[in-house]
Amino acid sequence: MTTNIKLSSLALLLSGVLSTAATAYQMNVNEIESSINWQKVPVVEKTLFFPGMITYDWINSPAHKGTTKDDFENKTCSTCHQDEEQGLGNLLIENDLLDKAAGKKGSIQTQFQFANDQQHLYVKATWETASPFPARMHDAVLYENGKWTIVGGDIGKNPYTPIYEDRFSIMIDDGAVEQFTEQGCWMSCHRGSRDIGQATKRDVLALPVIGADGLGKNDIRKYLPDTRTERYGLNWDKLKTQIEIDKLKAEGKFVDLMQWRSTRSAPTGAADDGYVLEYRHNDAGKTVFTWNFDKKTGEPKYMYDKSVTGFYALDKTDFNDLSKHIAMIEGVNTIPYDASKIKEGQYLQGRLNRKGEGSAGTNQEIASSWKDGKYTVIFKRKLDTGFPEDDKIMKIGGTYDFNIAIHDGQTTTRYHYVTLPFTLGIGENAQGSVLSTQQ
Ligand code: HEC
Repeated sequence: MTTNIKLSSLALLLSGVLSTAATAYQMNVNEIESSINWQKVPVVEKTLFFPGMITYDWINSPAHKGTTKDDFENKTCSTCHQDEEQGLGNLLIENDLLDKAAGKKGSIQTQFQFANDQQHLYVKATWETASPFPARMHDAVLYENGKWTIVGGDIGKNPYTPIYEDRFSIMIDDGAVEQFTEQGCWMSCHRGSRDIGQATKRDVLALPVIGADGLGKNDIRKYLPDTRTERYGLNWDKLKTQIEIDKLKAEGKFVDLMQWRSTRSAPTGAADDGYVLEYRHNDAGKTVFTWNFDKKTGEPKYMYDKSVTGFYALDKTDFNDLSKHIAMIEGVNTIPYDASKIKEGQYLQGRLNRKGEGSAGTNQEIASSWKDGKYTVIFKRKLDTGFPEDDKIMKIGGTYDFNIAIHDGQTTTRYHYVTLPFTLGIGENAQGSVLSTQQ
């Protein structure tokens, strides 16, 4: 377990050392060690584009002209669409049916740097954000007329006053998932999912494996085609048996998915850790965030510890006051909720950051900042996390398949920007379209 996180530095940061300039903000309040000399690492510019409603099924159907080309199955998206990302994004945003995408750009430019040391892979990314501030609230709770309500939501559900985080997500495979090299994250994108011809709660709850008798889910999220009895077509409800799915997992036929979340993970220098198989799962262990709201009692669990933060709750004007660190971090700046300390019209975070444990807590050294309208994330991940059952284990000299997504401007589900899949070789002698440079 990684332990060089110094929560004690919170007090120092809260005193305003890093946040005097309103245009710069350190998202994480912990010290993150990095042995990389970034000056020496080449910058790889990538265009991330809006993928609209393009699903795995569509990609492999006759409607996609690519399928008529020889040997389509063995070609990566970039073989045919190299440097077309901007054009694809513009096309897809224009044809998108939903008003909420209006005003959204078709693509964003992102500067990447990939590096490794003996134990870690580092992915550094910088992008200009549509939000004129770092997104530091998610599912806020508001005290009004004697009761608490959850307010905000993503820009789709709440176009005028969104209260939602931004995200930077990395998907990795090691060659175990057939077709991932060629089709990357599109393998996890299917009709029936949230915001793509969404399956009804009732229909999902009735399913074996993921419904009420299984995972207890009422929506469809990412899944891999191998987990369905039919590879193509509308197949969200065509689940293989639990035994078959367990076997796929044991064979490593899942993809790793880790997400830096500007509100729900960045403040503790963390990213969440999950994987995609028949559903989008969290890794085993304690996740890096949880609810700060008890839906049964209708009350928050914690409020701010005034002796640390200077306040018990937030006023609306605090949301974008960058001189204040407004994350609620369990055991660091929180005390149990006490109604007598809260004034009408005040807010608390609906979510609580906490220290992850086990496989779900592997990503604890993610540095991130927001400066002059740009986010920078330095994603540090152990090559070998020690959890092969739900992580992809990487080695120096190895080649891995990557897909990266950015949810920008307080969006969710498919309203993200994505890279085409690419391969990354770790170390100077590895194969791959992008090499990570060993330091
Ligand atoms: C063998 C070549 C080939 C491969 C591989 C390929 N495509 Fe295509 N794709 C095409 C061609 C050809 C078109 C049609 C272009 C046109 O009409 O100008 C197309 C069209 C598209 C479009 C435009 C959709 C629209 O509404 O017209 C998208 C989006 C797209 N491809 C995404 C992908 C993605 C994502 C992948 C990888 C998962 C991929 N393609 C793989 C050849 C390919």
